[in-house]
Amino acid sequence: MRHLPVFLKLRKRKVLVVGGTPRAAAKLALLVAAGARVVVVAPTVCAEIAAAADDGRISHVRRSFEPSDVDGCAVVIAATGLLPVDETVADAARHAGVPVNVPDNAELSTFITPAIIDRDPITVAISSGGASPALTRALRSRIEQSLPARLGHVARFAERFRGTVKSVIGDYASRRRFWDEVIGGPIADAVERGDEPGAAARMLALMNTHVHGSDLPGTVYLVGAGPGDPDLLTLRAIRALQRADVVVHDRLVGDGVLEMARRDAERVYVGKEKSGYTMAQADINALLADRAKAGEIVVRLKGGDPFIFGRGGEELDYLRQRGVDVQVVPGISAAAGCAATAGIPLTHRDLASSVTFVSGHAKDGAPRLDWPVLAQGGQTIVVYMGVTTAHIIAHQLIAHGLAPATPVAVVENGTLPDQRVLTGTLGGLGALVSANGVKAPALIIIGEVVALSNVVAQADAAMNVAV
Ligand SMILES: C[S@@+](CC[C@H](N)C(=O)[O-])C[C@H]1O[C@@H](n2cnc3c(N)ncnc32)[C@H](O)[C@@H]1O
Repeated sequence: MRHLPVFLKLRKRKVLVVGGTPRAAAKLALLVAAGARVVVVAPTVCAEIAAAADDGRISHVRRSFEPSDVDGCAVVIAATGLLPVDETVADAARHAGVPVNVPDNAELSTFITPAIIDRDPITVAISSGGASPALTRALRSRIEQSLPARLGHVARFAERFRGTVKSVIGDYASRRRFWDEVIGGPIADAVERGDEPGAAARMLALMNTHVHGSDLPGTVYLVGAGPGDPDLLTLRAIRALQRADVVVHDRLVGDGVLEMARRDAERVYVGKEKSGYTMAQADINALLADRAKAGEIVVRLKGGDPFIFGRGGEELDYLRQRGVDVQVVPGISAAAGCAATAGIPLTHRDLASSVTFVSGHAKDGAPRLDWPVLAQGGQTIVVYMGVTTAHIIAHQLIAHGLAPATPVAVVENGTLPDQRVLTGTLGGLGALVSANGVKAPALIIIGEVVALSNVVAQADAAMNVAV
């Protein structure tokens, strides 16, 4: 390790910044945020430093550096950009035993400043010891993405309860387990969502369980797993998966998504093959409720979004009626995922002023849909579960007035490596599906917007080349 990471307490301490450059200005904001009394010494300063001095956030001494300036300072920053001056400042600071930093000059510096992620009071500091600032930046952005935006609220929430928890749970090991449960479970999750009253109520219940040994009920997360590509999971979905004791999933959820779950979480497959149900919906509902009542964190993973043709509403209703805590985590629905990868905008100023999601599922023959409304032009129709009824849907739409030449796209295994996008016209939809042996999961998009798809655009380009 090239440097020892430490966090300096600078509140009300004098910090000297030598130089009036934009580089010096970049350091000021952080020093001021840390509560330091910042003094800038420089004959001239950039506009940003001048503004900070004008509104009293820092003081500006309008002259060149003198070695006695370092006296009484907690740290010194030499950022004049002029090597001989920075060297003089660094010498004086070293001589007085004051830590000094010269930006981008590890030789002259006795400390370096890390890249930071600020979720006050949580601060993450990253350093490559000067080896690769680019790598440090890349790491910062990766870590930044994985941290909840309201992480600081979680820290402050925990701080509020620290004293009480310490007095109620005397034993250190139990207290540690308690806090692990708070930070890794629904309590932190509620704070991250902005539900602090809910989190506080749960916190009291959790304290009771530790003190009186009563049972704390679990939570069911109804999580949208997106259309298949694990990159399309939301950050909240990943956090729920990493907290899960048990993951209940169906056929549309692939291995890539399941791998995001906590390694030791139990996986329960509840199926739904086309040929019949592996587990009836009533049994799935009961399973979710029972496991949550036993105190487990249950993630019910559903393809796409739980509230779009996902029976999420039924599960929510069932669980609520039984007093089970339920959280819904939205997902990218197949329509959004398939449209994006096929390059089909679902609405368009000139071509489609609305988009309608319909189910092509039919109990006896034809899907029960409002055909006259759907057959009006100027809109996009997205058909879920429509592979076996595609020819009937096309027939009905044409019979109710939609032009047979209306463009259509069929997206099979959308967003997955084996995705297929087939395009044609409404009149030929049935043949397009059967001739190409399209299998579920597939989505049908009907409307003029399909003419803008990647596939049609590529075909047009090839035609132009041929011509
Ligand atoms: C029971 S519905 C679930 C829809 C899901 N809740 C959503 O929001 O996407 C299943 C249907 O979604 C569509 N679907 C789901 N994933 C898909 C994918 N990766 N590619 C194409 N269609 C998909 C298919 O029409 C499939 O038959």
